[in-house]
Amino acid sequence: DRGVRRCEASLASDYMQASEVADLDWENLGFGLVQTDYMYITKCSSDGDFSEGEMVPFGPIALNPSSGVLNYGQGLFEGLKAYRKTDGSILLFRPEENALRMRIGAERMCMPAPTIEQFVDAVKQTVLANKRWVPPTGKGSLYIRPLLMGSGAVLGLAPAPEYTFIIFVSPVGNYFKEGLAPINLIVEDKFHRATPGGTGNVKTIGNYASVLMAQKIAKEKGYSDVLYLDAVHKKYLEEVSSCNIFVVKGNVISTPAVKGTILPGITRKSIIDVALSKGFQVEERLVSVDELLEADEVFCTGTAVVVSPVGSITYQGKRVEYAGTKGVGVVSQQLYTSLTSLQMGQAEDCLGWTVQL
Ligand code: COI
Repeated sequence: DRGVRRCEASLASDYMQASEVADLDWENLGFGLVQTDYMYITKCSSDGDFSEGEMVPFGPIALNPSSGVLNYGQGLFEGLKAYRKTDGSILLFRPEENALRMRIGAERMCMPAPTIEQFVDAVKQTVLANKRWVPPTGKGSLYIRPLLMGSGAVLGLAPAPEYTFIIFVSPVGNYFKEGLAPINLIVEDKFHRATPGGTGNVKTIGNYASVLMAQKIAKEKGYSDVLYLDAVHKKYLEEVSSCNIFVVKGNVISTPAVKGTILPGITRKSIIDVALSKGFQVEERLVSVDELLEADEVFCTGTAVVVSPVGSITYQGKRVEYAGTKGVGVVSQQLYTSLTSLQMGQAEDCLGWTVQL
């Protein structure tokens, strides 16, 4: 069982000897898995105390076919990024927020979760072990994927008797194939992502499998992704498959309030604070789909997508375009630049959001 096997070689000396930057085509990174050297793994029984984790070579894990995650979807994931500064050091962005969100999600999914300290420490260890895979400044980032799963065997529906926490990483570039160019969304009026009382507000794996069908249909029609409406009134904006949504009108930036069906994005929360600090008025509320018709700009936020400008939205056959399909709206551009300068250590971090490794 590689999950509990100690690496034979001294990892510390491996890290020291690893060449500074991996041999990769850094100019053409997309958002696909690039396998790196190591992953972090720890397990616990249902008592909830994760043992001290260890770094093992990246690779497949053994899972009981009857495990809770494979049979009943008892699993959660997180996403955060590490950036390389021009001086070679590495910055994490708000890792304790991911740790906290995982703990909240784990409670909803009846799972034990690592403490905030253990989570952040594990993220640091994993990034340092895979340091050579952090892209050079300006070429992308290292996407960090913590996974928590019910790995113990169950047959009747019940929480698993054992849990596994893993962190793996991959260097990434832009999430959408459009790169930094505006994306084209279609408002989905048949499928819904979440329902009140469900799990739309936690990062459980099932939320993502359930949007694949709508996303596939949208992509076949040439759209970049799907924008979901609420399942009750079928009228209020929720989120895109993999990111939150913001609507700009004059000096007011509106985004759907997180009231149970929307993922509380860490980039969402950061952009709200950045926008407020730049003098925008930010409203977290019900945002009607009709407001898209009147908007000056629309953009998405997420760890993977960062700040992604929306070029057009199609709703019930009607297409609305923002700032032309080639141009990026000034507000989206301003917020993108402010956030990424902070994340890359190019702007002063007055809020203490970054963690230097
Ligand atoms: C992220 O932005 O980190 C996410 O979890 C979205 C995922 C679908 C890539």
